[in-house]
Amino acid sequence: MLVLGLETSCDETGVALYDTERGLLADALFSQVDIHVEYGGVVPELASRDHIRKTLPLLEEVLARAGCQATDIDGVAYTAGPGLVGALMVGATLARALAWGWGVPALGVHHMEGHLLAPMLEEDHPEYPFVALLVSGGHTQLVRVDAIGQYRILGESLDDAAGEAFDKAAKMLGLPYPGGPHIARLARQGTPGRFTFPRPMVNRPGLDFSFSGLKTYTLNTVADCRAAGDLDEQDKCDIALAFEEAVVATLVIKCRRALKQEQLKTLVIAGGVSANVNLREQLATALAREGGRVFYPAPRFCTDNGAMIAYAGAQRLQAGQVDAVASRVRPRWPMEELPPLAARGAG
Ligand code: KG4
Ligand code: ZN
Repeated sequence: MLVLGLETSCDETGVALYDTERGLLADALFSQVDIHVEYGGVVPELASRDHIRKTLPLLEEVLARAGCQATDIDGVAYTAGPGLVGALMVGATLARALAWGWGVPALGVHHMEGHLLAPMLEEDHPEYPFVALLVSGGHTQLVRVDAIGQYRILGESLDDAAGEAFDKAAKMLGLPYPGGPHIARLARQGTPGRFTFPRPMVNRPGLDFSFSGLKTYTLNTVADCRAAGDLDEQDKCDIALAFEEAVVATLVIKCRRALKQEQLKTLVIAGGVSANVNLREQLATALAREGGRVFYPAPRFCTDNGAMIAYAGAQRLQAGQVDAVASRVRPRWPMEELPPLAARGAG
């Protein structure tokens, strides 16, 4: 079954073709970062308008690269939430219209399920059950995954998401949006041990996260540096390193705790922050020591992309799940409401 996947939930237009027999045939992405950078964050209306401009040209591109015709497509999957409502509506209406025109089924996919299943696109992929750490700009969640659609949220952020914390810390250091990759870049030049930031909530039992205290600590450290003279490049690198270390250490501790609690050895990390090299390395080392293993998507499939939506949609479409011919998107959407594969028939 050949499935077209469309991702338009935020500031990336992603389009991909996934075949359930042959795997990922082609994917294309347009990042709107340059459009939003001057505003210091995503401007929803600009995002929607650009998705309108980019989605069809990207579709032409993936069809050409895969050597396929539109008539070869057996189903269309699109991100139906969570995300920016206008941006979601663009993908949803376009996907529904294409599916209607081609006479094939369409299905709305949960964006975080897409992230969660992205490691399945790799040849060396995890077996169920596993614990997933979802770390993106809008979510920080630990999820027990027994199968597609069988998710139990073990813990989540009580305030900022991990990616959001990276973005806000970056802003304090005068770095552009999105800040995560910039913090990671500066951290590489940081002086180890110059600053030690608190590891939030690690001494409290449970699997929830909180990053707002770390944000305040960062702000105070920036202010101290300014008061002592200037906030020079080295100060920025040292703060970036201390910040990244604190977030990474917290995530590693909670992941180990979740695996222990669930008596599992396999961890998946996905979402934009899973591109962080320091996080990947430290999780791999910590888990190897305990006989566990961590799986992650290829770096280009850590952040938003069409391939993960095509994959998740293909699994559900193949199981006979189809949406009614009405576009419904959900800016907020708890993942635990998703049905398992067998529970929702065609119709
Ligand atoms: O999953 P994603 O592309 O979009 C959402 O669904 O939110 O995640 C974007 C987030 C941003 O907050 C960005 O700063 C962060 O992922 N990010 C990183 C890195 N690359 C992206 N954070 C830390 N280190 C990175 N290398
Ligand atoms: Zn995302």
